[in-house]
Amino acid sequence: MRKDTGRIFRIEDYRPCDYTVPAIELAFTLGADETLVTAQLTLERREDVPEGAPLVLDGDELALVDLAIDGKTAAPGAYEAGPQGLTIARPPSARRFRLTIRTRLDPARNGTLMGLFRSSGVWCTQCEPEGFRRITYFPDRPDILSVYTVRIEADRDAAPLLLSNGNPVERGDLEGGRHYAVWHDPFPKPSYLFALVAGDLAVVTDSFVTASGREVALAIHVEHGKEARAAYAMDALKRSMRWDEEVFGLEYDLDVFNIVAVSDFNMGAMENKGLNIFNDKYVLADERTATDADFANIEAIIAHEYFHNWTGNRITCRDWFQLCLKEGLTVFRDHEFSADMRSRPVKRIAEVRTLRAHQFPEDQGPLAHPVRPRRYREINNFYTATVYEKGSEVVRMIRTILGPDDFRRGLKLYLERHDGEAATIEDFIRAFEDASGRDLEQFALWYHQAGTPNIAATSTYDAAAGAFTVEIEQSVPPTPSESRKRLMHIPLAFGLVGPDGRDIEPASVEGATVENGVIHVRKRRHTVRFGGIEERPVLSLNRGFSAPVTLAMEQSGPDLAFLARNDGDLVARWQALNTLFTEALIRGYHAIRAQKAASFDDGLIATAGAIAADETLEPAYRALALTVPAETDIAREIGADINPDAILAAREGLVAALAAGNAGIFADLYGRLADSGPFSPDARSAGRRALRNVLLDHLSAGAAAPERAAAQFADATNMTDKAAAMTVLAHRFPGHGETVEALRAFEARHGDDPLVMDKWYQTQATVPGASAVAMVEALTRHRGFSLSNPNRVRALIGTFSTMNQTGFHRPDGAGYRLFVKTVLDIEKRNPQLAARLATALRSWRSLEPERQEAAREALTALAAPPDLSSDLRDIVERTLA
Ligand code: TRP
Ligand code: ZN
Repeated sequence: MRKDTGRIFRIEDYRPCDYTVPAIELAFTLGADETLVTAQLTLERREDVPEGAPLVLDGDELALVDLAIDGKTAAPGAYEAGPQGLTIARPPSARRFRLTIRTRLDPARNGTLMGLFRSSGVWCTQCEPEGFRRITYFPDRPDILSVYTVRIEADRDAAPLLLSNGNPVERGDLEGGRHYAVWHDPFPKPSYLFALVAGDLAVVTDSFVTASGREVALAIHVEHGKEARAAYAMDALKRSMRWDEEVFGLEYDLDVFNIVAVSDFNMGAMENKGLNIFNDKYVLADERTATDADFANIEAIIAHEYFHNWTGNRITCRDWFQLCLKEGLTVFRDHEFSADMRSRPVKRIAEVRTLRAHQFPEDQGPLAHPVRPRRYREINNFYTATVYEKGSEVVRMIRTILGPDDFRRGLKLYLERHDGEAATIEDFIRAFEDASGRDLEQFALWYHQAGTPNIAATSTYDAAAGAFTVEIEQSVPPTPSESRKRLMHIPLAFGLVGPDGRDIEPASVEGATVENGVIHVRKRRHTVRFGGIEERPVLSLNRGFSAPVTLAMEQSGPDLAFLARNDGDLVARWQALNTLFTEALIRGYHAIRAQKAASFDDGLIATAGAIAADETLEPAYRALALTVPAETDIAREIGADINPDAILAAREGLVAALAAGNAGIFADLYGRLADSGPFSPDARSAGRRALRNVLLDHLSAGAAAPERAAAQFADATNMTDKAAAMTVLAHRFPGHGETVEALRAFEARHGDDPLVMDKWYQTQATVPGASAVAMVEALTRHRGFSLSNPNRVRALIGTFSTMNQTGFHRPDGAGYRLFVKTVLDIEKRNPQLAARLATALRSWRSLEPERQEAAREALTALAAPPDLSSDLRDIVERTLA
């Protein structure tokens, strides 16, 4: 693995490489044990670089076999080669020359899952961000664009399938049961988009005719026997291709598009040109093995990787500081796609919840960094919620500010101007400025300044003057290495909701620019005065979550309850009830910490009941509305001196009060939502299941015995209902006979299907309370569990450490000790995975003192080994700093 060198990479140190690589030919000889790679690089010295300037190529754990310069074997003194790089001090003086590099790899023993590795016998690659240097010596940086020709040779039996990027050129048989295939990708691309797959897989094929009439052969390759489970992914792919043509005018550009599903993968999926490689979790689905959430994720990730073909591949990043250029934009595109495929407000609420759950804690803790960072020690650790999700929010705000037409023009200009190039965030912003004539200088701070801005707002109504006045103040809290912040341009969509529930149009506005229902906050304070207001309105602010900020509004309970029932913007309407829940939970928490009983307001319980029963609202929306904030959400809102046990108690109290106060409504609705007819994964059907399963949880919180959940578990004909029932049993009736039996039955039925068993690990990893530690420890020894498979690790250890607040943060530190031992074990083979797990401790300073001390010990233990990877060292040191 790559050991930490302590080196910090800085954006201001960027300079182009002395040499470019216009073309590369790669030949892979795949063997049972080792793989031989021959790379023929055509190098070109840049015009302004002096003759003979040294050539420095990246490497990572490489073993050189031999090297030839312009066809002649190089003498050992002509170069210096080690595992981490190759330097030719005096390269040929000609502008163009050739290098032939042979390296020997051992993919079967590559546990990092970067470079070339084997997953269930399949050879496959992962090169983003710096994995190509584990295959051959190369200037492994995204601004080196090359045309790739790839020849793969392997045993026909072991690997009937031989894939790489671009279009297939040639294939044939060789002696000794061997065969080969040649692929050519005409689009110059950075090394991180290179991919190879070889193995014995089943295939599902289809075809797509592009808007201009070209036929594209589509293929999804999966494990034998799982073909039927790829049908939904194929459908999602075709819908993505059509949608990108219709909405963005972007067409696919090769003759073939291949997707391969593998079971060992560090992340969700990878957008390699013409050959997307997926974690099989995000390809395989049918009603018996996947939940509605799995279907939705597959749709989104298939789309995301496909959309990268333009935003990422045709236009790529100059350097890794620009990662959000492709990721933020592509997340924005997949969000819009899902919104069009499903329910727009429901999708938006889900996005808000994800952003708050994952990005806010990052922005508010020791790992905070700007959407476009300025320095990094290990780039693997910057595939973050800030770069992806906040990066998408920033693109969304550009659209809010410019309006849809100028936004479309700006994006078109960016794509045309930079096609075939490696671009920067400055290029991106300039395209929108040029297309709209607007100045985005202040807005650009969203890319450069870390931290979640706070908006504080109050409002007053002057009936005599017919005036409604809103006071708005912005502040950006300090973050690591950025103590002083500049004022930001924050677009706040809003509405003034009249007593009849309709928006009031003010006759006049003073104090801030207000355009198309958006207040543009640019100064520290704005006093916005709306005139001609006849009746007292209720302010609905940050509608549609137009800006990713925290909002502190002085708003009364009755006003919030009014918005929760009447706001015309469904996102703000959901937010109003959510705020009421959160405020009630925080009051309950403080009561419990003061040894008093938590009590919950009858009005709130009734509002929730009314929303549950409101048939004008779609079930998916009602499911989200009735979902009580998670323990982690409550902890984030409390912010300091956190005691997870008191949070759990407050939450249980509220859920029980909701169930007690609405028992009739909930039970009636639960009965009426029962599934009828054949299964469909569509958003409407999924929404009904979601609502019914929230109701099951609430009803079970008020129940003495688990009959309802046990019955649902027994009767379920799809995984959504089955997994939901199993979770309710495990969490609400731990140790009960019905629970033990359900867990046993689930394992008996799905024990041979690792992806399904991940749900079983997850359910048990999240059983609240102190006993979870022993249970998780025991499950690490379960026959289906493996520390070398990232999905297993994330299902058990990742879920335990991020979702089980009472178990993981046990005051005696037992949860942390299990965690440290496991993370250090994983780090030996897969440092990237270990580092990601370690981020579970990032909010340790917000815990109460006893737990904080135990967490500090855990972090110190993680930092102790002398030979730590750069991945883990980077996370642990920033977390402790
Ligand atoms: N670029 C990929 C995406 O956003 C994600 C990715 C980055 C990745 N690095 C990776 C995937 C390493 C797997 C392994 O879709
Ligand atoms: Zn991506």
